[in-house]
Parts: sequence; C-alpha cells; structure tokens
Amino acid sequence: MLVASPDSSPQANSACEMNSPTPDTTEQLAIQSESILVLDFGSQTAQLIARRVRDQNVFCQLVRHDLSAERIKELNPKGLILSGGPASAYAEGAPQIDPEILDLGIPVLGICYGMQVMCRALGSAVRPGNSGEFGHTPIQVLEEDALFAGLPKEYAVWMSHGDRVEDLHEHFKLVAKTSECPNAAIKHRDRELYGLQFHPEVTHTKFGKEVLANFVNNVCKCSGDWKISSFIEQECTQLRERIGANRVICGLSGGVDSSVAAALLFKAIGPQLSCIFVDNGLLRKGEREQVREQFSDHFKTDLHVVDARQQFLDELKGKTDPQEKRKTIGRVFIDVFRKEAESIEDAKFLAQGTLYPDVIESGANPDGPAATIKAHHNVGGLPEELGFELVEPFRMLFKDEVRQIGLELGLPENLIWRHPFPGPGLAVRCLGEITEERLRTLREADAIFIEELVAAGLYREVQQAFAVLLPLQTVGVMGDARTYEDVIAIRSVDTDNFMTADWSRLPYDLLQKVSTRIINSVRGVNRVVYDISSKPPSTIEWE
Ligand code: XMP
Repeated sequence: MLVASPDSSPQANSACEMNSPTPDTTEQLAIQSESILVLDFGSQTAQLIARRVRDQNVFCQLVRHDLSAERIKELNPKGLILSGGPASAYAEGAPQIDPEILDLGIPVLGICYGMQVMCRALGSAVRPGNSGEFGHTPIQVLEEDALFAGLPKEYAVWMSHGDRVEDLHEHFKLVAKTSECPNAAIKHRDRELYGLQFHPEVTHTKFGKEVLANFVNNVCKCSGDWKISSFIEQECTQLRERIGANRVICGLSGGVDSSVAAALLFKAIGPQLSCIFVDNGLLRKGEREQVREQFSDHFKTDLHVVDARQQFLDELKGKTDPQEKRKTIGRVFIDVFRKEAESIEDAKFLAQGTLYPDVIESGANPDGPAATIKAHHNVGGLPEELGFELVEPFRMLFKDEVRQIGLELGLPENLIWRHPFPGPGLAVRCLGEITEERLRTLREADAIFIEELVAAGLYREVQQAFAVLLPLQTVGVMGDARTYEDVIAIRSVDTDNFMTADWSRLPYDLLQKVSTRIINSVRGVNRVVYDISSKPPSTIEWE
C-alpha cells in the first residue's frame, strides 16, 4: 500500500487509510470508443495508473472496485487494471472483485492488492508474508512475455507489500521474481490475466511506464488515438448536462488551474459563466491586466474584477507574523468573494480548478504531520457555507494534463507556464510589515528578475522563481553618499514536486544582470542576495 506525493514518488505508510470511494461515474464512460478502466481498491497511486495509461493516448478512468461484470461488459473497455489498496485481501470486509469480470475475455492486470484479489477470486490463498517487502528491489524476468517486451531481464522495482499469494500454480505461471517474492509477476496459463506484486505506476520502478505501456499496447491492443481534445469535448458535454440553464461562478486567481477551469467552462456554457477576480493588492506585476485581457477582452466572459486592495492593506496593517498575515488574507478574501458572489443572481455552482494532487493532500489524515504542514496552503480556498454546488472538472487530472488542456483551449503560453504563486501572494514575500510602498518595491524587483530569467531562456527550466523583500536595511554607497536601504533576496528552485527542492544553479552573469538592474532601477534597494538553500531544511517561500 502506498501514499503518493504529487509527482508519484511513493512512501510506504503504515496507516491503512483508504481514499474516499470512487463514485460510480461510469455513465460518462459509455461514449468512449476505447478505454481502460482502473478498478480502485483505495491505493493513493490509483490515479497515477490512470494517468500513465492516458500518457499512451488511451482514455482511462478510475471506477469503483465492485463494478459488476455486467456493467463492465456494457462499457466494453479494452482492458482492466486492478489497483493496489491498503487492506489485506483476506481481512473481513476487504474489498473484492466480482469474480465474473475475469471471465469476460477482457485483459486484466492486477497490481499488488489487485493481483491478490484476482488470485483469490480464482482460488489461491493470500497470506501474510514472513517479512514484508518495501522499497527498491531488483526483479529478475524469467521468461519472454508481452508485458516485459523490450525490457532488460533485471532491474529495480518498487515493492510495498506485506501479504503474498500462495498456491497459484494451477492457474498461473511465474514471469518474474525477486529474492523475497517468487511471484513478482505472474500470467494466467490460458487467459490474458496478469499480476504484478510491484508498482509499475510509481517513478521508483524503473521501466514501470514501459510495463504499463506494454499492457495497454501489446496485451490490450489499444490503438492510442485518444487525445486531450477528446477529454475537452467529453467534459463539456457532461458540464452542460449537469449545469443545465444555471449560472456558474468561477473564482480566478491568475494561476493556471483556475484559468484553465474558467476557459473550459466558458467553452461549455459561455454566457452562463461569471468569473470573479479579487485584486488583493498582493499580486505580481501585470497580473490583473492579464486576467482582464484574457477573460474579458478575449473570451468575453462576465468578469467581475473586485478592487479590494485598500481593504487588504487596512486589515494587514501592523501585522508581521506570517501565519497571522495568512489568516487575515484568507478571511478577507472569503468576505470579499462572498459579497461579490451574492451580487451575481441565480448562481448555483462554483467552479474550482482542483487537481488530483490537491484531492490527495486534502484527504490526508487531519491529525497527521503532513496535514499540519499543508494547512497554511489553503489560503484562497472557499468554505462550503457559501452554499454552492462544486464543479471540479480536473479532479482526476495532474497539472501537466491541465496545462495541455489550457493550451488546447487557446490560453497563452506565458499564463500556462507561469510559476506557482501562493494564495497569500506577495504578503509572504514581503517580510515584516506590509505597506503599499514596500509591495511596490518587491513587485518591481520580482518583475525584473522574472523578465531576465525569461530573456535568458531559463524561466521554464526552473520551477519557481521570485524576489523577497527583507525586513532590514543595509549600508551601501551610491555616488559619494552613504545609503541605508532595503535588501532584495532572489530565490529560484528546481523541484519535481515542491516537497523537496534544490536551489537553481543560475549563471553568474544572469545573477549579476538581475542585481544591477534591481539596484539601479528599483528605488530604495541597495543590495541583492541569492538564496542558496535547499528544501529541506529550508522551505521554498521565506515565510
Ligand atoms: P514551501 O514554502 O512550503 O512551499 O516550501 C511549497 C509550495 O507551496 C507554495 N506555498 C503556498 N501556496 N498558500 C498557497 O497557496 C500558501 O500559504 C503557501 N505557502 C507556500 C509555495 O509557493 C511553493 O510552491
């Protein structure tokens, strides 16, 4: 059983948490000409499996683990994948499959728990192993097989299991083994039923992508003609059906996810969409103008830009504690948003650009340390009491899939590839007290840094870059005079998942150019420093 971080790196977890059950959304699937279904047994990497299949240009979605054979037959998928899960297959009440799905003639791939329930349905026993297997393990492929075609005979896979399947020989032959597990990969003697005890979907398994691709292409014989544009069409149809003649409000933040959500909804329901953009005065340079240009001038949505800059400044006055700043911003944002939303008549739905990794994070154990660390990331979230029904078209997608959708919908590249920006905005980069003057200094310095990164062709090479205004002055000399002015820190990080990060090795010449431009053109700054700390132990933001 695994816990996935947003980028797919797994960590073994001892808490047997089950994700909230996948709702039966199979109504939507009937329109797919070629699909793979992932039966969800609760592993937090189940969506990753679906994502890897979509990478092969084959539509793939999670469905309930107990979908009946009859329903699956109607849906006519080219293959089924049984995901991992936190339970023990032999435990009372543990989720099982409808055994008849194995008789449908549809290829099945069981992964970890999925393999165990499949074998159990065919009469094998699943028992606790003498010792579990967690982490990297070398496997040895014992014989040629479609699943391992084109791959080396030995490489490292990611294991995360305590139980093992016994007595499989009547139905299955062994295809690969590890030192601890004789049945790391198995294949049914007569049917297209496969089992993997390791997790091909996580990046820690070398050639995992290839194994899944082999299943999709060689075993299920998919043609791979599904495209992200098919997702857009399908999603638009569903959105229209669900929303009917009602109005939808979409909160725009200037970031990728909400922008793409708004663009998709605009395509689906056009004039029934109203967008709200709150200018809290803590935005990056040009952000408000860009949102206006895109959503009012280009898409011609009903865009409500709320100028709440003064209100935020007033409420933040005198506050220097980072968490207090965050809380204040979150509270004022909800107030401002609520008021504006109330002025929009007949709105029934609220659209949000929630991504799959957000779903995973918010589903984390609320008492666990992960939840405590992430609690501050919810600023900008809206409470349920607003009374809207939520529309979250990207709940099953990952960020890069959403970016593809955005590009397909015609959003500009600079918006799609914009670095993440925290909900509390410049407030957590303006250390100490927040004033209009200090925000201006920071905004200008930040814009110069980003401009130079873009000019050097490095903006997309790094994952997050920004300026920070420090709460101190240092001595400098300009002309003949001594100065005592602000310090700007610049930070740029390389990261896969924002949970760990390293500082970017930016060229000295670029750093020098940025420093000179900031000091020469941003009034009140006489020193620029570069942050060379990695995360951990530092964080990406300074507050
Ligand atoms: P840290 O600083 O925790 O940041 O290493 C990891 C990622 O989260 C972003 N971040 C936030 N996002 N509200 C947000 O919406 C916040 O309060 C917040 N604090 C940090 C940060 O920019 C980075 O991408």
